[in-house]
Order: sequence, then structure tokens, then C-alpha cells
Amino acid sequence: MKILVIGNGGRESAIAHTIRRFHKDATIYVAPGNGGTDLDYINVPIKVEALKELADFAEQEQVDLTVVGPEVPLVMGIVDVFNERGLKIFGPNKECAQFEGSKYFTKQFLMRNEIPTAQYASFNRNEVEACVKASKHFSLPVVVKADGLAAGKGVLICETYEAAEEGIREIFSGKFGDAGELIVLEEFLTGTEASLLCFVDGETIVPMETARDYKRALDNDEGLNTGGMGGFSPNPIINPSVKQNIDTRILKPIIEGFKKEKLNFKGVLFIGLMIDGKDPKVLEFNVRFGDPETQSVLPRLKTDLVEIMGACIEGRLADTSIEWDERQSVTLVLASKGYPESSHKGDVINGLDTLEEETILCHAGTKRVEDSIQTDGGRVLAITRLASSLEEARAEIYKEVQKIQFDGMQFRTDIAK
Ligand code: AMP
Ligand code: GLY
Repeated sequence: MKILVIGNGGRESAIAHTIRRFHKDATIYVAPGNGGTDLDYINVPIKVEALKELADFAEQEQVDLTVVGPEVPLVMGIVDVFNERGLKIFGPNKECAQFEGSKYFTKQFLMRNEIPTAQYASFNRNEVEACVKASKHFSLPVVVKADGLAAGKGVLICETYEAAEEGIREIFSGKFGDAGELIVLEEFLTGTEASLLCFVDGETIVPMETARDYKRALDNDEGLNTGGMGGFSPNPIINPSVKQNIDTRILKPIIEGFKKEKLNFKGVLFIGLMIDGKDPKVLEFNVRFGDPETQSVLPRLKTDLVEIMGACIEGRLADTSIEWDERQSVTLVLASKGYPESSHKGDVINGLDTLEEETILCHAGTKRVEDSIQTDGGRVLAITRLASSLEEARAEIYKEVQKIQFDGMQFRTDIAK
């Protein structure tokens, strides 16, 4: 079997690792991949935005299944390009990828289908003054969001109306290009966040095990927002009664809404939730696996991921039973010097070969330079351990991280505490 994984992050490393667990003999390509996938699989030097080249490669190599990691190619329509050429690919089509490509599209869907979410108002570039005025009708803090993809930087939580006005003018002035054509203003929700990744086949939605991500750079949720500095699974905030509410108030209306609106969503729907007491509300949708949630969740999967992805593509999810490991997982992200403000590259990483066999190592911002592995900016590595308790997994992770060294290495010390 030949599988092509598109992307170069820790998430794609975790996807490839999971496929390998079930398919020892598969040929796994990663495009463009990182230093770790260069060692363990076959890196293909094609960028994630080069849709035609990726399809050409899949066709030439007779790839059996392509799995898309990041949102950018999905929003660009990679699934439509592959489908038109009869190539099997896992992920939503361009129409459904708007759930990540446009916050306004998602908000409208949630409202139409009466799915709990923050109150909102939206404005286009011709309505700057109306947008500024409307922001003052929201309680503080007010949330200002650029509509489109902004690499995680398009959401501002504004503690003052002056800050909101500044943010609105900045977004409309073109800071995020087309992503800032529209602004969504939102009521600020309080509670605890959780990430719920779901498999979807157009007819059926099946949640994976729950996870928690740590978005801030520093301990105690201080510092800047990042792509995610660590996580764990399961997330205890989703207890049985919250789960029940998520099923009835969120998952059921989502799949009913997809069917009613003829949105043939196939792939992973990542639901960002805010949970206040027993009340879950949708913060946002992503249309792909999360990073680093995937590094925490997939090691717990006991059913063949390739089989599940095939079931999603072919509409057989209702007949597929998905099993999970009872053990809990903790993932720690190691980032490069200066992250997230700047991105240092080229520092040699030592100690990776001294990790215990039970430690799952996912490379992200790394590259192979002759015999060494060097940092390549951003989040560099993620390490995950499974154990019978969170405390135990956490203890193992923080023991293992002591063995890894690179200049300027930074990580949080309070993951899963
Ligand atoms: P997003 O890029 O939409 O995931 O938003 C990034 C982060 O901003 C979320 O993970 C939340 O921490 C925060 N956020 C977004 N919208 C809201 C909201 N309405 N209320 C509170 N926090 C929010
Ligand atoms: N961990 C958040 C995301 O993948 O968007």
C-alpha cells in the first residue's frame, strides 16, 4: 500500500506514525515532510499549496490514499482537484473547507441550525465605522476576528474599546490580505476550552477521544498565543453529562445541518468548544486534525486509521467500530528560540536517540543536515507518552525531555499538571 501524507508538522508525523503502526509494509510519503519523516518515511519536496504537482505525484506513484494535514490546501480545494482525477483523498472538499476558511460561513451555519455559539455581528470592508460602533455594544472583552485564514493570528481578545477599534482598523487596512475582507465581532465566552475531533462521512459523525491543547507560550497560560505547546487526552472537562449535551445539542444538529444543506462533509471536523458548567458552546470549526491534539489522540487509537479514513470517504462510518486505548496520553511540545515571535533555525538537536522506546517522538520544525537533525523554526518536536494515569504519563514526559538538548529549547513545565 502507498500512502501520501501532506504537511510538515508534528501532526503529520503523528498521522504517519499511526499509519505505520497498522501497516508495517506500507510505503509512506510525506510532502514536504520534516527531518524526522526524512528518516522514517520518504520525503517528497512538493509544497502543500502545489495542488497540481501533488496530484501528479499521487497519480505517477499510484498512491492508494492521500491524507491532508493542514488547512491551506483544503481551503484551496485540493480534495476537488484529486477527486476530479479519480485519486482517493481524505479531507473535506472546497465547499466544506469553508468551515475553517470563513468564520462568517461557520457562524451562519451554527445560527441556522440553532447550535450554541457566541453572539456575533459581521461587517465588510465598506462598513468600518459601523463595525467600530457595533463593537461598543458588546461587553468587554470583545472578540474581533478576521474572517479568513490568518495563521492563528486573526483573533483578538480586546480588553478595551480602543483596542477593539485599533484591531478593526488594522484588519480592514489589509494586514491579513483577503482574510480581512470581513470581520466577525463576538461576545466573549467564559469557561474551559476543549478540542473535539470527529470523523465524518457525510451521513455520520463519530467523535474521537477528547483532548486539551495549551495555546499560550508560557506556564500558567501566560505569554503569547502559539500553535499549541502541549496537550493531553482524554480531557476530563468532558464528563458524561457534558458529553451527553455535546451529543444532543452540537453533534446531532451539525450532522443534520450537513444533510439538510447538502454539504457532503467527509474528513475530520475539529470542534473547538467552550464549556461552562454543563453547557458546551462552539468556538470554531477546523476541517482537519489538530496540532498538537493529534499527537495526544492518535496514539490511543486501536483501530486501523487507514480503514477509518476509507470508511469516511466511502460513507461506511456507521458500520465501522472504532476502539480506543484506555490509557491516557500527555504530549509536550519543544519550541525553538524566540517562538512564537521569531523563529530560530539551524540549531543542532542532541539526545533523540537516547529516548525510551515507549516515547513517541514527532518531529515538526526539524531538518536533516547530513548526519545531524537541526531545528527549522517554530515548534520543533513533540513527545508523547501513554500511561494508566495522567500523572504517570506526565512524569515520564518530563523525565524524557531532560534527555533532549538544542540551543534555546523552550517548553512549558505545567502541561497536564
Ligand atoms: P480561533 O482561532 O477561532 O481558534 O480562536 C483562537 C482562540 O481565541 C480560541 O482558542 C479561544 O481561546 C479564543 N476565542 C475565540 N473566540 C472566543 C470567544 N468568543 N470567547 C472567548 N474566547 C474566544
Ligand atoms: N491546536 C489547535 C489547532 O490545531 O488549530
